[in-house]
Amino acid sequence: MRMYDIIMKKRNGGELSQEEIQFFVEGYTNGKIPDYQVSALMMAIYFQKMTEQETLSLTMAMADSGEKLNLSAIHGVKVDKHSTGGVGDKTSLALTPMVAACGIPVAKMSGRGLGHTGGTIDKLESFPGFTTALTTEQFINNVNRIGIAIMGQTADLAPADKKLYALRDVTATVDNLSLIASSIMSKKLAAGADAIVLDVKTGSGAFMKQEQDARALAEEMVKIGKNAGRKTIAVISDMDQPLGYAVGNALEVKEAIDTLQGNGPADFLELCLTLGSQMLIVGGKAADCKEAEEKLKGVIADGSALKKLAEFVAAQGGDSNVVYQPELLPKARIVLPVEADRSGYISHIVCDEVGICSLMLGGGRETKDSVIDLSVGIVLCRKVGDFVKAGEPLAFIYANDEKRAKEAGKRYFAACTISGTAPTKTRFIKDVIW
Ligand code: URA
Repeated sequence: MRMYDIIMKKRNGGELSQEEIQFFVEGYTNGKIPDYQVSALMMAIYFQKMTEQETLSLTMAMADSGEKLNLSAIHGVKVDKHSTGGVGDKTSLALTPMVAACGIPVAKMSGRGLGHTGGTIDKLESFPGFTTALTTEQFINNVNRIGIAIMGQTADLAPADKKLYALRDVTATVDNLSLIASSIMSKKLAAGADAIVLDVKTGSGAFMKQEQDARALAEEMVKIGKNAGRKTIAVISDMDQPLGYAVGNALEVKEAIDTLQGNGPADFLELCLTLGSQMLIVGGKAADCKEAEEKLKGVIADGSALKKLAEFVAAQGGDSNVVYQPELLPKARIVLPVEADRSGYISHIVCDEVGICSLMLGGGRETKDSVIDLSVGIVLCRKVGDFVKAGEPLAFIYANDEKRAKEAGKRYFAACTISGTAPTKTRFIKDVIW
């Protein structure tokens, strides 16, 4: 087999066989096929697209390219959850203890934040002492013992995707549906869960800005999951404004704790209940959404979800007192209000700009090696559709540097539009695809 022939076949619109896909994925991963040939193939795929069978073959070849987690030692149906990423997305922090308290074993690999979106691991590190550096054995033992463990993605999980994604990033070939779907799903399949619930975001803070693109990605990933023999469901949710009110690591942890205490923001709670219901149904713990929601609301009301969070934090070396005393979380020195210059309705908040404000304050990573400040961020006071009077705060900026606080404040102000009329309400959960 020759890479040249594979590139030409795809360039001319042909369908690559499983062997051909396997050949280039293996050859690229072990360094036998050079970047320039794989770049040419990625561009050919970008223009000619991939069939359902090709997309599945690519996903499986990438999933098989490195270590695969074997979760068979964990009792019960393991259900993983994945978000395509957004601003203020602290879902895993509240959702995983909720479903674990309902009896779903959570064995999850999470990532760190890069750019304007945050990562679960950084947020969890707001608990002093918390670590995600677990051995596979500790990870599995923790799930069997307390029902929940989260570890960092190992370097050897789907290494082919890591290499291909870095190449696509610099060759303008990221935004192809089959390539994105196979990239995400290869990591999920290698992480070993029996079922996968995907949270596909859409809007100005999401990877997929348009709803039809988010829907197409969701459908593609559900097809891959099913073809690979895993129950897969996708929820399409709004990311046209930040999720909840808090953006920034420790601030989001506080909001997740508030939610588990029954005081969560409506949109965030709705998302946790929607995703959690699907997880309970595929995990065999509820027959339908109604029963699942009742169970999930029950574990919030009786405190068992909050207790599960405390157990999980303690099991991974963190200070679980913080769960009951969130005032112990890292605190910013400066709290600066951003005030409305007129009265009216908030008609739009440019969501990715809010993520960039948090990044500017030091709450996110500009590069992989940046050290982040866990205490900084933004807490919104008004969301889209809310009325604000001139002089009232739109948000509070949490910072440790005056200059950065003022810059972020100006940027946040510019990201908000205040209008004379209330905007039309849009649905927060757009669809559930299975
Ligand atoms: N996220 C991924 O993991 N892969 C892509 O290709 C795009 C987003």
